[in-house]
Amino acid sequence: MESLPISEWLLGELKQNRFPSRMPAHRRVYESIRRGIVSHQLTPDTRLPSTRSLAEALNLSRNTLLAAFEQLHDEGYVVSLTGSGTRVAKTFPEEFTETKNDKNTEKSAAARGVTGLSIRGTAAAGQTDQPSYEVQPFAPGEDDFSTFPTQLWRRLLNRQWRAPQPAHLDYGHTGGYLPLRSAIANYLRMSRAVNLTVEQVLITSGTQQSIDLCARLLTDHGDLVWVENPCYWGARRVLEVNGLQLHPVPVDEEGMSPGTEDFRSTPRLIYTTPSHQYPKGVVMSYGRRRLLLDYAASKGAWILEDDYDSEFRFEGHPLSSLQGMDQNDRVLYMGTFSKVMYPGIKLGYLVVPPELTESFKRGLYQLQRPGQVVIQAALAEFIEEGHFASHIRRLRQVYGERRCLLQEALAPVTSVGASLPLAGSGLHLMVGLPPDCDDVRVAELAAEQGLRVYPLSCYCIGEKREKGLIIGYAYAATERIAPYGRILADVIQAALSY
Ligand SMILES: Cc1ncc(COP(=O)(O)O)c(C=O)c1O
Repeated sequence: MESLPISEWLLGELKQNRFPSRMPAHRRVYESIRRGIVSHQLTPDTRLPSTRSLAEALNLSRNTLLAAFEQLHDEGYVVSLTGSGTRVAKTFPEEFTETKNDKNTEKSAAARGVTGLSIRGTAAAGQTDQPSYEVQPFAPGEDDFSTFPTQLWRRLLNRQWRAPQPAHLDYGHTGGYLPLRSAIANYLRMSRAVNLTVEQVLITSGTQQSIDLCARLLTDHGDLVWVENPCYWGARRVLEVNGLQLHPVPVDEEGMSPGTEDFRSTPRLIYTTPSHQYPKGVVMSYGRRRLLLDYAASKGAWILEDDYDSEFRFEGHPLSSLQGMDQNDRVLYMGTFSKVMYPGIKLGYLVVPPELTESFKRGLYQLQRPGQVVIQAALAEFIEEGHFASHIRRLRQVYGERRCLLQEALAPVTSVGASLPLAGSGLHLMVGLPPDCDDVRVAELAAEQGLRVYPLSCYCIGEKREKGLIIGYAYAATERIAPYGRILADVIQAALSY
């Protein structure tokens, strides 16, 4: 290796290695370098050429190289240090690399990963690209439970426990408790224009499980999935762990925006958040909805519509779902009770096209053993007796007020080049920052003031091109929003004024 430049060695490897024909270029580059590392052809601390020079030498796009390097980095094969480029990681436990006497152990050894986990396990648990901070004002994804009607909920649960039916204590194999499925079907028909029968509704333990179930039942290892870029990290993680190849599609002010290059690929799944893109907050336009639906129908792809927070629309008419526009039964619609009730309730729903209903029920039972029937029964009553609707109304009022206060407090940042889109829904908003701004640094500066916000670049796949701050307003008490918001505005203004 010393005598051969790495770019030439890699070119040889790419030609020599037999890859499945559908494997995209970034995955081939990743695999070749990974194999080089586990077989000691690339020794620890070896400096890899820059992605730019490799792209030229291999006649590939820079994005291809960036995606390959990112995966190597995420899985711990390489490290990147400012000023010293990307190097092969120095420290691997022995089982991670191939020993000279034990060539056949490459796969199993590498599979155990740097932490003793499998590759799949490492993808699921061995790394974080999501900032994991303690709960603080403005942390996205944190809700305020102070308005939750605890006593009423306890009463409904007690009613179920007074004389539980034996079937309620079992796993349940029917796709969920029928009265709950029926209550959800009514709610979705009325408020989200979802086109469905009760049979199509399955109760899951939340969106994370719904996505996992779709990935397991609708795809095979290596299949392509279009995801929004930037993307909700939870979905991204589940799709990756299922061995799917992520194809990032940019998001503009009309939502997911596939271009000519994207249309050359044939996805098996398309994961999208059309009502309120996570994290940018834009609403998908009618034109884009039609485009996605038509494309999915023409390619036989399935669209996973994650409608995670549309209960919180503060102005204008409720938006219809993508599923409601679908004439070809290509959309699987998912919702969650994590936001309106509380995340620990671990209940969500998945609406599947009629042809998938029976297989999904069986798959759910075989793979995940649903259960939670007692809580499902209490929730069915909560909805049927009207408490769900009034709780949503109460939350909408509280969160809507917080949103207005935050928007007012942050308004000054527009004078220094930041943008403040005024979308009227959800539980977070995004302040857009100029592309040359280090949003991670701005988030750190905010953290020094006791405010947690997430940098938009952390949600990007591949090149961290988009910069901004994701700011949750559901957690902080209403009277604290304006003072905290002003502190955050000062931090942003100071950071952008240098
Ligand atoms: C985009 C998105 N989808 C779904 C969820 C909720 O998922 P779950 O039902 O697994 O709690 C969240 C939670 O923050 C989210 O941000």
